Amino acid sequence: MTIAWGGICCSEPPCVSISLRKATYTYGNIIERKAFTLSVPSQKQAACADYFGMASGRTENKFEKAGITPVKATLVDAPYPEEFTMALECELMKHHELGLHTLFVGKILDVKVDEAVLNDKGEPDINKVDPFVFTPFSGGYYSIGSFVGKGFSIGRGLCC
Ligand SMILES: Cc1cc2nc3c(=O)[nH]c(=O)nc-3n(C[C@H](O)[C@H](O)[C@H](O)COP(=O)(O)O)c2cc1C
Repeated sequence: MTIAWGGICCSEPPCVSISLRKATYTYGNIIERKAFTLSVPSQKQAACADYFGMASGRTENKFEKAGITPVKATLVDAPYPEEFTMALECELMKHHELGLHTLFVGKILDVKVDEAVLNDKGEPDINKVDPFVFTPFSGGYYSIGSFVGKGFSIGRGLCC
């Protein structure tokens, strides 16, 4: 399924959080397998991500319909899409009912990244990963845009 409500939530151990409605098919799978994978689609894969966010795995094989190959994760019992360049394998650490959404916290056990999107230091290059963001207000998908400045650096002049 497609997730907008998510992100990194701990550095040590490295964790991600995602928030899901109970009504989704994915919700039950995560509870049962105590695991999930998280992948980052590129802008070229936006229509595929949009489709994964409208159809349900309860009634159709989304991988097959979108022409995406499911690969069995190495360390957890969950599939990830081969064609997406980044995949995190996560073990469910905690979940917490918030209201309409349930917050799932996954401990990242492995990160798989296509060599094609790495820079010369072996780190993911944002321009090559080519991710995009979703804004719930307009309902639009937007590219990340250009370099703004260096983190933990451009604000230094304001520090006491
Ligand atoms: C851009 C986008 C973002 C979404 N974000 C979330 C989200 O953060 N949490 C959620 O529960 N559903 C979200 N959805 C809806 C689910 O992806 C959708 O209900 C999906 O069909 C569930 O699939 P499943 O039944 O196979 O699990 C989003 C959908 C789109 C298109």
